[in-house]
Amino acid sequence: MSNDPLANKHQAWSALFTEPMSELVKRYTASVGFDQRLWRADIDGSLAHAEMLAAQGVIAKADLADIQRGMAQIVADIEDGRFEWKLDLEDVHLNIEARLTALVGDAGKRLHTGRSRNDQVATDVRLWLRGEIDKIAVLLSDMQRALVELAAQHADTVMPGYTHMQVAQPVSFAHHLLAYVEMFARDAERLVDVRRRTNHLPLGAAALAGTSYPLDRERVARTLGFDGVCQNSLDAVSDRDFALEFSAFAAICMVHVSRLAEEIVLWMSQNFGFIDLADRYCTGSSIMPQKRNPDVAELARGKSGRVVGHLMGLLTLMKGQPLTYNKDNQEDKEPLFDTVDTLADTLRIMAEMVGGIQVKADAMERAALKGYATATDLADYLVKKGLPFRDAHEAVAHAVKVALQRGVDLAELPLAELQALQPKIQADVLQVLTLRGSLHARNVLGGTAPAQVRAQVQRHRTRLPR
Ligand code: ARG
Repeated sequence: MSNDPLANKHQAWSALFTEPMSELVKRYTASVGFDQRLWRADIDGSLAHAEMLAAQGVIAKADLADIQRGMAQIVADIEDGRFEWKLDLEDVHLNIEARLTALVGDAGKRLHTGRSRNDQVATDVRLWLRGEIDKIAVLLSDMQRALVELAAQHADTVMPGYTHMQVAQPVSFAHHLLAYVEMFARDAERLVDVRRRTNHLPLGAAALAGTSYPLDRERVARTLGFDGVCQNSLDAVSDRDFALEFSAFAAICMVHVSRLAEEIVLWMSQNFGFIDLADRYCTGSSIMPQKRNPDVAELARGKSGRVVGHLMGLLTLMKGQPLTYNKDNQEDKEPLFDTVDTLADTLRIMAEMVGGIQVKADAMERAALKGYATATDLADYLVKKGLPFRDAHEAVAHAVKVALQRGVDLAELPLAELQALQPKIQADVLQVLTLRGSLHARNVLGGTAPAQVRAQVQRHRTRLPR
């Protein structure tokens, strides 16, 4: 037997155990296969803890120097892929600690003074997640910028706006794109909020009740860039609501992505033909030679399922747990990791793809001409001529009926015919019935008029500096 106390895991706990763990239990309980991803956060957390222990006189300065030297070696080994992760050592924390002790001896064994894996893992996950949040914030800005820059070119490109998937009123393609920018902007705000609550330090809570060593938790928090210290040790080791919030943010964001992806799929279909995507975002069919499929958009839509699922998984994981730490919490990692990876990849690829959308403005305009999209404009015109809105609405319904019978657009009905339906109609109606007339008329804050949309593009550009 080795005299390294962590060489065999049951020895890592205590001499209390009289038989080794069964292989199946070892495999079932180990997390090192996935939580090794936390290694850098784990080492940063350990170094901050050790520095503080030395400053407080809990360990010797020489121990700190040994720990720092050992950790530097471990970082180099992990970065070079030379570090040997051992299932026997259960998780990332025990693996690194055991290696440290093998490298530097007793100083390594002193690192865990005043600490438990319970506050250690909570700290690691928060630290790691904070780093990922910062990367995702950049990706969210990139996504918004891609949409804003495409929108900047299409304030005058008319497309049908839909409700109930029926042609409703003309809108500009830019206005439609900027709706998604608003959604992603709110997602970005949510993320800022999640970061604020994630960025608190659990370390010092120890196993659950705090510790009898004179720790300086504020100092550790400052070293690690935390905004504050968790104020209740039981809460610090047991709750994972920061992970829940992040997952909720991610699920909402993926639902936004999914809606955009769905529209891209629709627009790219032959029935719409509104856009084309660059070949590099499409795939062919093994049987139908004519096919170019928008797989990337479909996958982005599909992957929203797993992110929403992870939110449900994490909520369920937390739901029945009594205070404080329970091993259940080890199950938070895979869903959280997959949520981060899926969201990051999806934002990256969607932003790229949006940047390469080719717009078929003629097809959009033809589609807008199909569904009597300017009927509301005719009603508004009559109201301005003094008719009560409900009467105007009724008169226009009759006009649409006539146009339908003739198979023509409202703008194509002879003026005399319109006047027969409603004598207040005059020649100036023809401008009102055009798509562009309709677009320009909606010159209210938040409306689709090109002047409004251009102002929004400017606002977003200022808000999203490079
Ligand atoms: N691998 C564990 C986790 O992810 C670390 C904490 C284990 N703590 C314990 N007392 N068993 O949650």
